Amino acid sequence: MGVVGLGGVGLPLAAAYVDAGFRVVGLDRDAQRVRELAAGRDVLRHQALAAGLLESGRFLATTDPERLSHCAAAFVCVPTPLAASGLLDEGPLSTAVAALAGVLPRGALVVIESTLPPGGTRTLVAGALAAQGRADLLVAHSPEREDPGAGRSLRAVPKLVAGRDERSLRAARSLHECVFDSVVPTESLEVAEAAKLYENAYRSVNIALANEFAAACAALGLDARAVLDAAATKPFGFQRFDPGPGMGGHCIPKDARLLANAARAAGASPELLELAARIHERRPLLVVEECAAKLGRPLAGARVLLLGVAYKRDVDVTTHAPALVVARELARAGAEVGWHDPLLSADRVVADHAGRALPRFERLEAEALSRADLVVVLTDHRCIDWDLVRTSARAVLDTRGVLRQGG
Ligand SMILES: NC(=O)c1ccc[n+]([C@@H]2O[C@H](COP(=O)([O-])OP(=O)(O)OC[C@H]3O[C@@H](n4cnc5c(N)ncnc54)[C@H](O)[C@@H]3O)[C@@H](O)[C@H]2O)c1
Repeated sequence: MGVVGLGGVGLPLAAAYVDAGFRVVGLDRDAQRVRELAAGRDVLRHQALAAGLLESGRFLATTDPERLSHCAAAFVCVPTPLAASGLLDEGPLSTAVAALAGVLPRGALVVIESTLPPGGTRTLVAGALAAQGRADLLVAHSPEREDPGAGRSLRAVPKLVAGRDERSLRAARSLHECVFDSVVPTESLEVAEAAKLYENAYRSVNIALANEFAAACAALGLDARAVLDAAATKPFGFQRFDPGPGMGGHCIPKDARLLANAARAAGASPELLELAARIHERRPLLVVEECAAKLGRPLAGARVLLLGVAYKRDVDVTTHAPALVVARELARAGAEVGWHDPLLSADRVVADHAGRALPRFERLEAEALSRADLVVVLTDHRCIDWDLVRTSARAVLDTRGVLRQGG
């Protein structure tokens, strides 16, 4: 079988199929990534997969679509980002679909694992294949539900699957049943697509609510987390979302936006989704105001040390990370900003408002903590020595509540 796009979604999927005994051809347009994988070197920071793939003898990484010409099925795991217009950038998906149209054998199955707005698989994949003379190919959609950094097993998360027709559904379902503990068919491609977007929109709205609620609690003189602790004792009808410095990452902001755009285009008014997006945009700017309030003096000249830059705990991803905005705006206000994030690679830069690299603290030491006028906790990585922060920092703005929880 083939996997197109060997990133955060495609590579673990390829590894799961190799583990299940399949031969997998992995196609990626990034030649460097393919070389690394072919040499058994990891390309995903949090998952050591490459050596196992190489040792299995059942995995081939390639940039050449022709190598998929014997594959009876191909999973498409390419990015589906937003274009500058705010609409879906169809480029990577269209390129992948065209490549498959050119090489897959008659009657093969194409499963889209990438996230798409409702109607995407039908028009951009099934329609495009038909227009390229490949109406013989079966088409299914099975949205990925990875939870980066959480250490959750891929196979344990129920897998939605939908087909353009019964044959496509049957084929995709029986393949995924070789790998996933639970495969859940949906009644149409669009239901599966919309379910994925709704799951992430749900998180977006609830994170916005948690942050708005925390601001209300602060105004009311209440500890928001104490209220959440109390509310979370309710055994039904409540799922806890904690406040933080803002929402980031690659998927949730994008998927909420894709859903809002699709709804608007269809004549609906997704006001809650759009309001949540505005709350997310404002949140890091409020953190900067909270820094000034905590300092009790102007930001200009204050030494501020940021702890954690990744968008969430235990990942090394900084896409749309609120910390990047906090760092930039603190620097713009004249603060001397430094940062520490043990998970980010040595070449990672956090920039000020003029694009200049801000100083990085490779190691977290008591001296740096005590020298800072303010330490701002932005990401609660488990590997940070929170006891050291507790005992050494003179003033802390803890946007994650990690010091309260005992680290
Ligand atoms: N990473 C996640 O946590 C996650 C979770 C659920 C859903 N998704 C969705 O899955 C899809 C893939 O996301 P990802 O995080 O794996 O992306 P990624 O950027 O980590 O990896 C994508 C890979 O595809 C390759 N690629 C791009 N265009 C290609 C093409 N035309 N042909 C061959 N290779 C190509 C890139 O070089 C890259 O290696 C997106 O739609 C995303 O929204 C991601």
